Amino acid sequence: MSFISHPAILSAEARARLLLKGELLVQRQVQPMLDLCEYALNLSKTVFQPFEPEYAHQCLSITEYSNRITLLCKAFSNEKRVRQILAHLLDVLGIEKSDAFCDRFVLRIVPPEGGHQTDRAKKLWAHRDTWCSNVYQQINLWAPICPISRTRTITLFPDYWLKPIANNSEDWDIAELRRSRHCNNKSQYPTIPSLLEETRGVRVSVIAEPGDMVAFSGTHLHESTVDDSLRARISFDFRVVNLRDMQSGLSAPNCDGRAKNVNSDWFCRFTDNTSLLEVL
Ligand SMILES: [Fe+2]
Repeated sequence: MSFISHPAILSAEARARLLLKGELLVQRQVQPMLDLCEYALNLSKTVFQPFEPEYAHQCLSITEYSNRITLLCKAFSNEKRVRQILAHLLDVLGIEKSDAFCDRFVLRIVPPEGGHQTDRAKKLWAHRDTWCSNVYQQINLWAPICPISRTRTITLFPDYWLKPIANNSEDWDIAELRRSRHCNNKSQYPTIPSLLEETRGVRVSVIAEPGDMVAFSGTHLHESTVDDSLRARISFDFRVVNLRDMQSGLSAPNCDGRAKNVNSDWFCRFTDNTSLLEVL
């Protein structure tokens, strides 16, 4: 994997070919991401007032912090303005909106390890998203909302692009997770499958500025890094499957994912919310 800072405009297909071969693309200062940062930061400030969103975990009880995060994340994912900005982002990426199948829009706040980590706001251990989705055309778009550092970012493990790592993806079921969360706010069902061995080798901790857009295949092994002792990491993630990539046979490799089902219903068409499952 190479770390490509690519100011040139790529076609959607050219970008997908690079990403599904394991490249990491960082597009600097993309207007929709600048707009999204401004919007998300203002919304976060409103929800956490009078505290600064990056430091609110130091000032609020864990219950109050968790309640405000739930409110913020729901408001963000349902906001019309966020949808407008992401429509602009898809235009910039050259992806036809009627071909774009997306997961929900996620504003993620991860406080430092050691305190105030909740089900919605916690460090995620190393995983491949495709252990869950089982859709090998999935692209992850990730962006910092506030400045990040090498110890407060997202980390990829490129050595595992083609190398298996022991995991329990065959035992994890998204339907179980949904059932568990529906029945119980404090669901104990793991958010993602678990690693069954330690990671080794190269770690790439992404450095990007608010306004930059980081793109990588959902097949890459990655984790949250939140070792900074003071500030929470505030970031945005957006998982998208371009139907054209599926139709043209593009795919990332699968070396160790053993999910029993293909969870294409996870992704819905940007324009009318039709499930990917219904169009395949
Ligand atoms: Fe992930």
